[in-house]
Amino acid sequence: MQQKPAVLFVCLGNICRSPTAEAVFRQKVQESGLSVDIDSAGTHGYHIGSPPDKRSRAVAESRGYKFDGLKCRRVQEDDFKRFDYILAMDHSNLSNLKDMSEKKYHHKIKLFLDFADDPHTEVPDPYYGGKKGFELVLELIEMASDGLIAHLKTQ
Ligand code: 4NP
Repeated sequence: MQQKPAVLFVCLGNICRSPTAEAVFRQKVQESGLSVDIDSAGTHGYHIGSPPDKRSRAVAESRGYKFDGLKCRRVQEDDFKRFDYILAMDHSNLSNLKDMSEKKYHHKIKLFLDFADDPHTEVPDPYYGGKKGFELVLELIEMASDGLIAHLKTQ
């Protein structure tokens, strides 16, 4: 790899899916020995400054992932310049990110599950559902994180 890549995970609220992706990917990157800049953000500002959702934390912390210090923030203009991979959790996030950015950055914006070998194309929004939704979020994120690490190792 030529230089340290920078990865931004994006969902709607930045309190459930993208902070979980940040926590899981951070840990897997550490185990892999790669060096990656990692952050997460939301396309909307409903919960700016809030810590990740307790339900997301409960499911992921029981599997050993850590959310310490994470706080919700909104996607900002310079993110499109700063990050090499801007990974959306669902099609709606993807389309919002493209609307928010200049065309020259669109090649960086992808679905996170493009890196998972799974029939799901989206990490479904768990916010208004039950525990099973949060468990599915974690499972998909673990799979895509492994795929993204495998991809980064080829760069
Ligand atoms: P996230 O989940 O996009 O995975 O963080 C949501 C968080 C908050 C809301 C919707 C989804 N909300 O409507 O407030």
